[in-house]
Amino acid sequence: MISMSLGNTRTRKVLFTPRNGQCMRVAVITGANRGIGNNWVVRLLEEGWKVYAGYKENLGGLEIIQDDNLTSFKLDVTNNQSIERFADQIDENIDLLINNAGVPDGRWRSLTEIDDEWALEVLNINSLGPVRMVKALYPKMLSSDLTKIVMISSLMGSIDDCQMGKSYAYRASKTALNMFTVAMKKECIDDNISFIIFHPGWVKTRMGGDRAPVEIKDSVQGMMDVLNSHTIEDSGIFIQYDGQKIKW
Ligand SMILES: NC(=O)c1ccc[n+]([C@@H]2O[C@H](COP(=O)([O-])OP(=O)(O)OC[C@H]3O[C@@H](n4cnc5c(N)ncnc54)[C@H](OP(=O)(O)O)[C@@H]3O)[C@@H](O)[C@H]2O)c1
Repeated sequence: MISMSLGNTRTRKVLFTPRNGQCMRVAVITGANRGIGNNWVVRLLEEGWKVYAGYKENLGGLEIIQDDNLTSFKLDVTNNQSIERFADQIDENIDLLINNAGVPDGRWRSLTEIDDEWALEVLNINSLGPVRMVKALYPKMLSSDLTKIVMISSLMGSIDDCQMGKSYAYRASKTALNMFTVAMKKECIDDNISFIIFHPGWVKTRMGGDRAPVEIKDSVQGMMDVLNSHTIEDSGIFIQYDGQKIKW
């Protein structure tokens, strides 16, 4: 089990905070200051979740959300110290981790233009960032209840779909993220932790651009619907926001 290999304690802390007589579920979201991540924050708060939101530098859209159940902290997913500081602020168990933070690669026009340094940084953020988050938060995700981990990947990480080429590092980073996830799921299943790998659609965000056909709210609502019916038997599934399965 991953808890053993990571040397983490399996002691369960206070599980839920009661709210209106109900158990309050706890979510963590990375890259939550804008785009898809910010809308996850808004929607989960509306659904009565307690949310810990990570932002790399600026609060952005988090600043205007007035909700006692939202706590925002700085978080750079490339930096283990930043991740540890973030994790230390959370003194309760986590039911949902949404690894959303990500960057594009600049869409180099040709192979010869690929910039090593930025390519490695794209892999660092998009592929390893989510793995660091899982490792750091693992002790807080151990529960008899199912814990769900969402990986915001991309159709561009599908080898089967890679007909157009280009976007080299971005594609590779999401393919690597998918493989990390499927490899991790084996270790995590005994700890009742399940993974969902999402393609959120081509979404109107800073990354997706204005021509993107999918509105942020529709993407997030679709992912929430899929997430709600997700079971551990489906751990590691690669699926679109509208519930359509994606080939590797
Ligand atoms: N939009 C699409 O069409 C589309 C399609 C497929 C997949 N996706 C994926 O969806 C996710 C969200 O993207 P988006 O479209 O919402 O893009 P976005 O608006 O560009 O948001 C990206 C978020 O990631 C954060 N981030 C970047 N580097 C980080 C780091 N080192 N540590 C912590 N946070 C970091 C950004 O923070 P700053 O604001 O500080 O830079 C921002 O909050 C990404 O993983 C992306 O690959 C998007």
